[in-house]
Amino acid sequence: MDSTGSSLIREAAQIIKRGGIVAFPTETVYGLGANAFNPLAVARVFEVKKRPYFDPLIVHVARSADLEKLAVEIPSDVKKLIERFWPGPLTVVLRKKEEVPDIVTAGLSTVAIRMPDHPIALSLIEEVESPVAAPSANPFGYLSPTSAEHVREQLGHQIDLILDGGPCRVGVESTIIAFSGERPELLRPGGLALEEIESIIGKVDARRIEEEKPGAPGMLVTHYAPRTPIMLQRGYQTPEAFKGKKVGFLAFRKPGEEMRVQPVEVLSEKGNLREAAANLFAAIRRLDSLNLDLIVAEPVPEAGLGRAIMDRLRRASGKGE
Ligand code: TXA
Ligand code: MG
Repeated sequence: MDSTGSSLIREAAQIIKRGGIVAFPTETVYGLGANAFNPLAVARVFEVKKRPYFDPLIVHVARSADLEKLAVEIPSDVKKLIERFWPGPLTVVLRKKEEVPDIVTAGLSTVAIRMPDHPIALSLIEEVESPVAAPSANPFGYLSPTSAEHVREQLGHQIDLILDGGPCRVGVESTIIAFSGERPELLRPGGLALEEIESIIGKVDARRIEEEKPGAPGMLVTHYAPRTPIMLQRGYQTPEAFKGKKVGFLAFRKPGEEMRVQPVEVLSEKGNLREAAANLFAAIRRLDSLNLDLIVAEPVPEAGLGRAIMDRLRRASGKGE
């Protein structure tokens, strides 16, 4: 049976209801879900990912009404945004209700919430009849999975079930906006372009860097990193420039004839940012499996989904921020 089948989704929901953990597809990346109101199950998610407990999880809902189970108050800007963009790659951080377990929010007074735009994710959450806490389904610090195969390779033997929904349409994680302070703040650029968000609620500030605590604790500098070092560099140099190192290239668009280098992964032949985002993690994973000494990545324009792509490339190269 194909895993989009409703009986498999029902089985997955039963597993989560009994305190198990299940990997499931969303439009952004695959998540590793547990019942958000079952702290023991959530603890297993942290354990399997080897994720530090100071890094809170996103709670996934299947209907906007569920916001009320999680947040004390829903600002009018949030109402406008979710009306327009949910289900979709937008996560909002709101002041949390006491009932939300501390392990989910890493003891913060806020909770991150999103409604994924994927039929399997939505029916799973519906069947669980409770919000589902889910980080990306990868070991902590590694790239997020954009296919069931990626999840299987890295966490397969440690989780109760993987729902296979094929490759993720968006390919980078959700955009996170915090509404816990005086003004909305961008905590993580992602699958929904900042421009689209600003067209509804006006200017959104980037997280203030002088803040003591990082806005999204998961935004560590070397996050989303492959094993192979990545270097961001505009234009190709000849492979000789890398002194006998085995180098692979991550090209944004199709390189010209004079730039015939191997191995190369082209994110989008025509230079389309959406397509590039959708291909990003799988392309890096393929290069990462070749035992190269270095991956040289071509920068992409920093607008629309290009912000999320550049953010992930900088972090993968250890030069976040
Ligand atoms: O697209 C996505 O967002 C995917 C899919 C599965 O929904 N999820 C995802 O989760 O990327 P994760 O755990 O890999 O990243 C969640 C980020 C982390 O950087 C975390 O620190 C931040 O969200 N976060 C969670 N709760 C927060 C809170 N209360 N305040 C600030 N940041 C928070
Ligand atoms: Mg993650």
